This record gives sequence, C-alpha cells and structure tokens, in this order.
Amino acid sequence: MCGIVGYIGHRKAYPILIKGLKRLEYRGYDSAGVALISDSCQLNVYKTKGKVADLETFVSQKDISGTIGIAHTRWATHGEPCSANAHPHYSSSGRFALIHNGIIENYAVLKEKLQAKGYHFNSSTDTEVLVQLIEYIQSADHIDLLTAVQLALREVIGAYAIAVMDRDNPDEIVAARKSSPLVVGIGEGEFFLASDATPIVEYTDKVVYLEDEEIAVIRRDSPLKVVNLNNVECPHKVQTVSMNLGQLEKGGYPHFMLKEIFEQPACINDCMRGRVNIEGNNVVLSAVIDYKERLLAAKRFIIVACGTSWHAGLIGKQLIETFCRIPVEVEYASEFRYRDPVIGPDDVVIAISQSGETADTLAAVELAKSRGAFIYGICNAVGSSIPRATDTGSYIHVGPEIGVASTKAFTGQVTVLAMLALTLGREKGTIDEAKFVSVVQELQHIPEKMEEVLKLNDRIAELSKIFTYAHNFIYLGRGYAYPVALEGALKLKEISYIHAEGYPAAEMKHGPIALIDAEMPVVVVATQNGLYEKVLSNIQEIKARKGRVVALVTKGDNIISRVADTVIELPAVMECLDPLITTVPLQLLAYHIAVCKGMDVDQPRNLAKSVTVE
Ligand code: F6R
Repeated sequence: MCGIVGYIGHRKAYPILIKGLKRLEYRGYDSAGVALISDSCQLNVYKTKGKVADLETFVSQKDISGTIGIAHTRWATHGEPCSANAHPHYSSSGRFALIHNGIIENYAVLKEKLQAKGYHFNSSTDTEVLVQLIEYIQSADHIDLLTAVQLALREVIGAYAIAVMDRDNPDEIVAARKSSPLVVGIGEGEFFLASDATPIVEYTDKVVYLEDEEIAVIRRDSPLKVVNLNNVECPHKVQTVSMNLGQLEKGGYPHFMLKEIFEQPACINDCMRGRVNIEGNNVVLSAVIDYKERLLAAKRFIIVACGTSWHAGLIGKQLIETFCRIPVEVEYASEFRYRDPVIGPDDVVIAISQSGETADTLAAVELAKSRGAFIYGICNAVGSSIPRATDTGSYIHVGPEIGVASTKAFTGQVTVLAMLALTLGREKGTIDEAKFVSVVQELQHIPEKMEEVLKLNDRIAELSKIFTYAHNFIYLGRGYAYPVALEGALKLKEISYIHAEGYPAAEMKHGPIALIDAEMPVVVVATQNGLYEKVLSNIQEIKARKGRVVALVTKGDNIISRVADTVIELPAVMECLDPLITTVPLQLLAYHIAVCKGMDVDQPRNLAKSVTVE
C-alpha cells in the first residue's frame, strides 16, 4: 500500500528518494511521484502513473536539484490511478507539497468548504483536500507550517501518515501519523522519512517510530522535535534497527518470492534460535513464560488475522487445542471488528500479522483491548503498530518479506504457533513429556526437510508448464492439511490470476464435486497422516469424474501414486508440523505457474503488501 519517503540534509535528495521508493515497491502501488525544493528554491513536483522506473524516465532532463524532498508510491483508494491523482499534491499557490498514506474520511465536507472559499482541485483524491486545507489555514493567519498542520489535522477524521514541505522554508519537513506507519531515520545532520525502515537502513540504523497523533519536525543540523496536535512535546525513543541490505535485494534470484521460498529453512532456524535449546528437547517462548498466569487463566483463545496470516491461525487453532486443551476460535479481523463480538477479560486474543500494520487486524486488537482481553501478537515487522498495541507477543524473525505473496512469513507464523502451543501445553500439563520432546525434535528437523523439498524445484517448474492452460484449480486437504489447501489456492490466485478454491476434502461431495471434469486440476494434500485413508477415498471420487489429480504424498507412498495423475513425494513429518513441509511445494507450484504465464510475481496486480486501509 502507499509508500512514503522523505529526505532533508546535505546530499542530493532525488537519488535517495528514488532508491527509497524502489525499496518500498514491494508494498504495491499504481503511480509514483516526487517533490523537490530546488537549489533555486522552486517547488518541482513530478508524478506519473505506473512504476518508479516510469517516473525516472519522466523526470530525466528535468530539474532534480535540491537537498530536501518528499516522494510517494500510491495505491489508489479515492480516484483512479493517473498522474493527476498521484502524490505529491500541492496547494493552489504552489507553495506547499504533501504526500499521504491513509484515508481522510471527511474529505468531501472539507472539500466543499474549501471550494466555497474559491479553492480549485486538480485531482479526485482525499489528499489534495488536506494540502489545500493547510494552505488555507496558514495563509489566513500567517502562521508557521507546524501550527498549520496541527490545526488542519484537528479537522481531519481518518487515518494518515503525511509529510509536508513549504517552498518558502526549504529547511524543514513536517510529518505526522495516525493509524498509518511512519518512521524517522536520524543521520548526521540529516533525516530520512519512510513508511517502514527499508529505505532508511542503507543510511542509518537509528530510527524513531512515530506514535498516533505525533508530529515530527525535521530540520537540517537540528535535533528531532516531536510534538502532538496540541503542541505538547512528546518524548521519543531512538531505536536501533538491525536489517541488512542483503535482505532487501534479490541475491541472484529472479524474484523476491523465489528467494523467500528458498530462505525458509534458514528462516525457521532463525525463528527457533534461542527458543529451542541446543539439545533439541526443550522449547521456551519467553512471552508465554512471562505471562503464563494470564494465558493459563484464559477460558478461550481467539485468533484474529487476515489472508495468509488467517490460514496460519487455522493451523494454530489445531496446535493449541491439541496441546493446551483450550478452545480456540479463528476470526477474520475484518469481520470481528464490526461484529460486536462477545469477548472479555477471560479471553486471550492472538493477533497474527506479518506486516504488523494491517488496519483490520489492528482495529480488532483495539476492540479486544477495550473489552479487557489480553492481547498476544505474532508479527514479523519489528516495531510496527500491532506489536506496539499488544500486551506481549513473539516476533517470527524471518527477515523482511518483499514479495507481495507471503511465503516465509507463513511458515514462520506456524513455527511460532507451534512453539507457543508447546510452551503453554507444558506449563498447563496438557502435553505429556514424551510427546513434547518428540514434537520439539521434529521441529528441529524441519529446516533440513524443507531443504529436501526445495530440491524438487526443477520438477515442479516442469510440472507447472502443463497447467498454464487452466482457468480453475481446486485444492483439498483435511485436518492440518485443510489450511494448507486454502493457502495453496490463495498463492495461486494472487500471483497467476487463475481462479482457485481450497476446501476440506470431505466437503467436495457437498457441492464442489459438480465442478470436476477432465479439465479440472485438483491438488490434494495427501501425506500419510491420520486421515490418509479418507483422503484416498476423496481422490478416488475425483478420479471417477476424470479430474486431474496432483497429490502431495509421503515419500515411498505406492498407493496414491497408482491413483493420482502426478505425485510430489515429500519427507515424512509428524502430522502437526506437516503444514511446514506441504506448504512449500504449493508455493513453488504457484510461483512457477505464474512465471510461465508471464505474470509480475513480486508485485501482482491490485495487491498491496501492507494493507493499511480497511
Ligand atoms: C497473501 C498475503 C495476504 C496477507 C494479508 C495479511 O499472500 O500476503 O493475504 O497475509 O494481507 O497481512 P499481514 O500478515 O501483514 O497482516
């Protein structure tokens, strides 16, 4: 979703801004723009529909001088993707330029008011209203930019991360946030602004994450000033980010998604580091131990999440119910937040989010908090909004995920959920010692088994060629494999644009079986676990209707291989951890089908990495 970059210092701003926008491309966008106050104190605004590369072409031959600037990638909400709607927006007099991430809900009322005062609008965006409002307020009373921004934001209802520049004061950027992330990077006599730390880490590891309704005033060679809307100074903590540049580059892979699929063995090791002991027979999630009374007292767990993280939640439900004997509900955060749910101090809410910024998940957390529930976060992006809103939690530590389709974050989330269930189950006494040790040992072997699966990459690439014709896919699984089927289907549809549905295998006969014919590929997770025989029957039902079955089976299986059209053999894994293995070939299948179809795998159409609007 929209990306914000800003710079003020002694270097040329333009190259820093463009590089920053490229680092944020993964968030998803449809247009891009940059505003610079030039060396001759002109405000130059350049913007275009399309990619950052298109912006660079558009800007070539233009004045890109200046050591202060703001830049933006836009994911359309109000108004189609086009250069007029792209950010930065500027005020009628051309004095102020502004970039914005979020939604101004009362923009129509504000726009009407400004139009009545003679203001004209060049775009159909909510953002242009804000920059005009700032100019209107500033020019009426000839106040400074900070005061004008404070007064304007007091009139705004909605979510925002903004950065504003004043052509007549090229020494200052004013930035503010509410419900939309904004990070300030602190260098030597210079400052960086961005929606997340990825554009900043190349220059400094010192950052400040702004809190809601905080405003940062950044001036060259001056200390950072943070105030609230009433101009009261806010104490701010300078944090050190540990992200290396290699994590933000493709490292020889054609796409970030493939790199991230291949990183999974290392990521799972990172996720377990310091949590599973060296002997491989104990696991401790410190947050579970620190809050064990509260967690053990819970009558019920509710998992809230969206998309892939919701699929991880479905696996978490089975893990927690199995090992801790606590009832678990899994809710779409977007439904939960508007449902007036029955929830109170006896409940523990687990919020799962890779980005830590998903607006619906954050709102679900706030709602549950307001009803007295205890909130546990499982996130990847360190310092993001959800971990800061929760009572405690565990990071998954899989490093930045750049490909829009989530891969390593999913397996990281499942790994943390497994460690949570094991730690809590042991504290509760609901898992016996032998079972506990065997699951921990199996967990330790997951990375090497994932490596084995990744060796199937070429074979899956070959297999994918057969399926580029398909317009539909069905994915089936039972028990722990059902969420894997959902996740496999989601991966395929989001990057290849092939329609795909995941079902619990036994649900087939209640409707979807009508879809089966010789054209229909059906991917079945059929590894040798508790429901193996049942899944075998489901496969036979599909074959009887001439469906084309691709089955994920356990190595050495010679029963399903006789029935299915194609089998992908996977190492044997204990059922509760099987999703960590069976998900990987489905990620590869989706990836290679999308590549065969020539799709933009890392930035699929219409999708955003960080869904910061509801
Ligand atoms: C799918 C995908 C999305 C996200 C969803 C939630 O590949 O990436 O479905 O899982 O938007 O995002 P987070 O986990 O950041 O809350």
